[in-house]
Amino acid sequence: MSIMSKHQKLETNATLLLIFSFLAVTVGGLVEIVPLFYMDNTIEKVEGVRPYSPLELKGRRIYIREGCYLCHSQMVRPFRDEVERYGPYSLAAESMYDRPFQWGSKRTGPDLARVGDRYSNEWHVQHLIHPQSVVPESVMPSYAFLAETPLDTSLIEEHLETNRLLGVPYDDAMIESAAADLAAQADPEADWDGLLARYPKAKTGDFDGDPSRLTELDALIAYMQMLGTLVDFSTYDAEAHYR
Ligand code: HEC
Repeated sequence: MSIMSKHQKLETNATLLLIFSFLAVTVGGLVEIVPLFYMDNTIEKVEGVRPYSPLELKGRRIYIREGCYLCHSQMVRPFRDEVERYGPYSLAAESMYDRPFQWGSKRTGPDLARVGDRYSNEWHVQHLIHPQSVVPESVMPSYAFLAETPLDTSLIEEHLETNRLLGVPYDDAMIESAAADLAAQADPEADWDGLLARYPKAKTGDFDGDPSRLTELDALIAYMQMLGTLVDFSTYDAEAHYR
């Protein structure tokens, strides 16, 4: 029997075809999946990427709670139009400490992966309180209540510990000083040395325009302002990662 007629037998017998298809898919799947179990890390580390500071982590929770991800993605895709609009395309490492990730699937508003440093804190305050005051045609809802809501910081150590449980490398010193770091980051008078040693490039000072109180708006803006700013793309060599 020639190979062609053997194959004809396979194609005309539904049971045989099913069995062989199943075998082909199983072997193919195993070849792709098994090596991943033997790799220490499937994400290449990139210099500059660090866990979120306690205040940023709080802001991230508010971002998730308010459903910002329903209108905003956080992933610049490697296409020319996106890179020209938003900046360098997102690296896997940039969301390696995201639990859960915020890539999103819908862009009613722009991508936010590189929004950090693009606007002033004052712009964000204005925009979150009354989006149409800065972008008249905006369909983004107002989040004015965040400016009136004191930030609940009571479970911050536990929040970091839970992230550590999931693999984010918070060390004991970070957990011990979580509450102090959180307060210091939003206090324009504070000494930031410890905070910045633990969380390089963290934005510091008052965020919501009122240094006398710590609100949910402070945390959300601290988070917005660091998005996409950790990796220095003037020195990052993308080519090296494919060699
Ligand atoms: C109903 C959809 C919707 C929701 C929900 C939403 N946004 Fe927006 N957002 C938009 C639209 C549309 C724009 C573009 C117009 C504008 O700047 O207001 C925008 C713009 C922005 C910008 C400016 C981005 C840029 O590069 O110019 C930021 C920052 C932002 N949103 C943050 C947030 C945050 C934080 C939340 C959650 C608290 C949120 N948005 C929720 C629709 C939304």
